[in-house]
Amino acid sequence: MKLIGTGSALPTKQVTNDDLSRFLDTSDEWIYPRTGIRSRHVITTEELEDLAARAVQDALAMAGLSAGDIDLCICSNVINEWVTPGLSCVIAYKTGMHCPGIDINCGCPGFVYGMDIIDKYFRCGSVKNVVMVAAEEPTRMTAWTDRSTCVLFGDGAAAAVFTEGDAFKGSKLSAKPDPTKIWEYHLMEPTPYIDKEERDIPMQMKGRDVFKYAVTACLSDIGDLLARTGHTKDDIAYFIIHQANQRIIDAIRERLGVPQERFPSNIIDHGNSSSASCLILLDECNRKGMFKKGDLLMFSGFGAGLQSGAALLEW
Ligand code: UT7
Repeated sequence: MKLIGTGSALPTKQVTNDDLSRFLDTSDEWIYPRTGIRSRHVITTEELEDLAARAVQDALAMAGLSAGDIDLCICSNVINEWVTPGLSCVIAYKTGMHCPGIDINCGCPGFVYGMDIIDKYFRCGSVKNVVMVAAEEPTRMTAWTDRSTCVLFGDGAAAAVFTEGDAFKGSKLSAKPDPTKIWEYHLMEPTPYIDKEERDIPMQMKGRDVFKYAVTACLSDIGDLLARTGHTKDDIAYFIIHQANQRIIDAIRERLGVPQERFPSNIIDHGNSSSASCLILLDECNRKGMFKKGDLLMFSGFGAGLQSGAALLEW
């Protein structure tokens, strides 16, 4: 497959670190040096599926395709207003796509997991054009009284259109499954039969553990994929890494020994938008005209689960 269009859409509300410090015991002096984040986009009046639909429409326009040309829509999402139907179906309705949709919930590496799945569909010859959309509103599941999580996240959506080609060079998925629930909620009254401890708790995260896992898993996935495809880090034009924390991104870059200009970043005014982060960054870089034909792009994501993955794509 090859990538022929990208799009992204963000909520209009931007919340700065100073805004947060008005109701939380935190400060820009704490958040920025530890995360690289100064502000994040947060959903207020928008619907996530409308942002996703806008991203898909922009990606289709760039690809020169219409909604009717799409054979499959893969949507990466952790949380939204809908339990069913899946968000892919809602987005298909909003954009006029009449294709099957599949929702995946892999957290932050969702874009890489999605590309891995889409590649298999192309290899089977069962699709000609596929939309990958990542739409996330992690701000819905953090406690806005917990300064150790809510300062990290932002919302947004982005999409990519793939068609037949030979630009996708491979992917590597990994996992270190951990049964700890990082978030749970109940929409309805418990059944009369539930006889175990279940509580509504907001997202909880072992920040330091995730930090270490992220650096180790990302380096391992990228190393494996480079070795398998016969490339070295010097062949990679850009590393599009999940925007979790600028210190995580810097630690990965330093260990790889790659100059900063090949590690684009937008975390400063986006925060961590889970699986949407890589795709939003890709679209922003694309629209700035950063990529040229033949550039090799290495993608890497890591997070919830814990799951991680890398993918290599020629521009
Ligand atoms: O997609 C993957 C998602 N997850 C991540 O990316 C998380 C990766 N981890 C991290 O980014 C970092 O671990 C954090 C930024 C979350 C935290 O940084 P840290 O240097 O690991 O801090 P810590 O959790 O060890 O906390 C140090 C102190 C604590 O105070 P005490 O107990 O030492 O008095 C925290 O209560 O910093 C305090 N703290 C804060 N203070 C002001 C935690 N959050 C804040 C805050 N403002 N927002």
